[in-house]
Amino acid sequence: MKILAIESSCDETAAAVTEDGRKILSSVVDTQIATHALYGGVVPEIASRRHMEAVVRVTEQALKDAEMDKHDVDAVAATCAPGLIGALLVGANFGKSLAFAMNKPFIPVHHIRGHIAATYLAYPELKPPFLTLIASGGHSEIVMVKSYTEFEILGGTRDDAAGEAFDKVARVLGVGYPGGPKIDKLAQDGDPKMYKLPDSHIKDAPLDFSFSGLKTAVINLAHNAEQKGETIDRNGLAASFCAAVVHTLVPRLEMAVKQTHARRVVCAGGVAANSFLRAALQDMAKREHVQLFMPPLHLCGDNAAMIGSQAYYEYQAGTRGKTLQNAYATADI
Ligand code: KG4
Ligand code: ZN
Repeated sequence: MKILAIESSCDETAAAVTEDGRKILSSVVDTQIATHALYGGVVPEIASRRHMEAVVRVTEQALKDAEMDKHDVDAVAATCAPGLIGALLVGANFGKSLAFAMNKPFIPVHHIRGHIAATYLAYPELKPPFLTLIASGGHSEIVMVKSYTEFEILGGTRDDAAGEAFDKVARVLGVGYPGGPKIDKLAQDGDPKMYKLPDSHIKDAPLDFSFSGLKTAVINLAHNAEQKGETIDRNGLAASFCAAVVHTLVPRLEMAVKQTHARRVVCAGGVAANSFLRAALQDMAKREHVQLFMPPLHLCGDNAAMIGSQAYYEYQAGTRGKTLQNAYATADI
């Protein structure tokens, strides 16, 4: 089954053609990063307008790269939630209209389910059930993937998502948007023990966590240094921050592994590209004797191939949405 998938939930306009949920026939990602970097973060109104400009071009390119005519696809899928609503509307309504015009099924896809499905594209042997750490710009959760379309959230952030924290700290360090890759790079030459940063504990919810205290500590540290006329060791602070994020996420995931007796663990989402997190997860996998699956870096960030992958399994499970009944508007995942 060949699916044309569209993703427009944030600042990438993406289209892809995938086959049977596992094979990428084409994948085009048109990023708006340069535009939003001017403002230090994503400006929703600008994002929507840029999706409007790009969606047809990107879709035509994806069909061309797959050497297909739009009439040859078996279904059209698009991210329908969560995300910036104006941005989502562009891709979702474009996809829905395309499906309507061609009399093909339309499959609405949850963005976070898509991030998890990115892993299926890289590992043909991977099948649910497995335990997942999702860490993106908008979400940070520990999720048991019971089947391709059944999910149980075991823990998650009480405030900021991991990526959001990276982006805010990057702003404080003056390294611009998006912060994750830049902090990761700075941290390569820093001492992770240079700055002592706080850890979060949520009473009676050991698998839940928080990033707001950590973020505030970094902001305060930078402001205090500025007031005293001291210079911050940016490499040291970036490395200490990466270590603190890893220390927040990995022990909780490890606790969830022990609780659920999971044998397979996935880490997905934009922050799954972080080199320190990837290394710490490898160590954890060795300690716990679990198989670890992480998408390659180009599939960690937003793309439409992951949406096409999840769409295949949604279709098998009977998800259809030509009228787009707002299938996922309120669902966490
Ligand atoms: O999954 P994603 O592309 O978009 C959302 O669904 O939110 O995640 C984007 C987030 C951004 O916050 C970005 O700073 C972060 O992922 N990110 C990273 C790295 N690469 C991207 N965070 C830490 N280290 C990285 N190498
Ligand atoms: Zn995403």
